[in-house]
Amino acid sequence: MNTKFDLSIEEAAALLQAEEVVAFPTETVYGLGADATSDAAIAKIFAAKGRPNDNPLIVHIGSIEQLPQVVASVSDEAQQLMDAFWPGPLTIILPKQAGIAESVTAGLPSVGVRIPAHPVALALLQTVDLPIAAPSANVSGRPSPTKAQHVADDLDGKIAGIVDGGATEIGLESTVIDCTTTPPTILRPGGVTQAEIEAVIGAVCMAVSLEQAESTPKSPGMKYTHYAPSAPLFLVKGDRAYFAGVIADAKAEGKRVGILVPEEQAASYAAEVILTCGSKADLPSVSKRLYDALREFDAHDLDVIYAEPFYATDLGEAIANRLQKASGGRVITDKHSN
Ligand code: TXA
Ligand code: MG
Repeated sequence: MNTKFDLSIEEAAALLQAEEVVAFPTETVYGLGADATSDAAIAKIFAAKGRPNDNPLIVHIGSIEQLPQVVASVSDEAQQLMDAFWPGPLTIILPKQAGIAESVTAGLPSVGVRIPAHPVALALLQTVDLPIAAPSANVSGRPSPTKAQHVADDLDGKIAGIVDGGATEIGLESTVIDCTTTPPTILRPGGVTQAEIEAVIGAVCMAVSLEQAESTPKSPGMKYTHYAPSAPLFLVKGDRAYFAGVIADAKAEGKRVGILVPEEQAASYAAEVILTCGSKADLPSVSKRLYDALREFDAHDLDVIYAEPFYATDLGEAIANRLQKASGGRVITDKHSN
């Protein structure tokens, strides 16, 4: 298939109406869209991404008037969340409407839905006038795309086209909250924080840790490896001297080392490749840059990557969650610190 770069909104809408898949920008990451009412269109998303078909997709709409096409009912809490955070990076899980293709929800009775806050996404969704299922537009397991070029790197030749809207603002995926449980449960931390949600609807549950989720995943996406660069990434928990020692040991073994640290720390270390991801004092600058940096490592033929962990406050929760997934649980801890 010939992938067309730089699709106009009208071209992209026409392709979606013809049951093709196209990538488009949202405020979180690029999505890979297809008609959520067509199993034939949805099958093309799973094929292009190589995504396991038991992992359901998020449905995107361009206005609240489209919501009844997607969900069968809206709880009070869900309504309050929509009023507070839409358009925006919050996906809400509700009972599914009959017209949504079975393959979108992997057979689940519930569906995830959001209105994205990106002018290009909104214009496209309003023009196409169909609910559009869209996972992140990466090959399954790779970091989500935050630039059109990332989509092209992963999916050139496998999809009909890409709408280029520049770099995405938030840089990591939406928060997913399940409003079919009482109280609602955050299944994936993201652009809207737990504190922001609780300020609107009161206490919510936080989904179980990754290790627990692996045995009984509530959000099917939890059980898969994600965001991984090709060299193994380790989180290093310790002070600067400890981090420097870990790097020195790897070099002594002849390894090519990459490190991922906040700007503040970049000058503290010596390694083959030092990539920075924003400033610790400015968490949005970190989320915006994280996946781009994870992808950049792949250009350098490294043996190992060491990263500083982030602490789970505010947006740091989502950042720490993605780094934890990118590491596949590999952590090196200074046994002498506490
Ligand atoms: O920011 C985002 O959410 C991006 C942009 C494109 O909107 N989309 C995205 O989609 O990240 P995806 O498919 O990569 O992640 C969807 C997550 C998965 O973890 C999936 O398991 C979960 O949402 N999910 C979707 N529908 C669900 C459902 N009915 N019940 C439980 N989890 C669901
Ligand atoms: Mg994804």
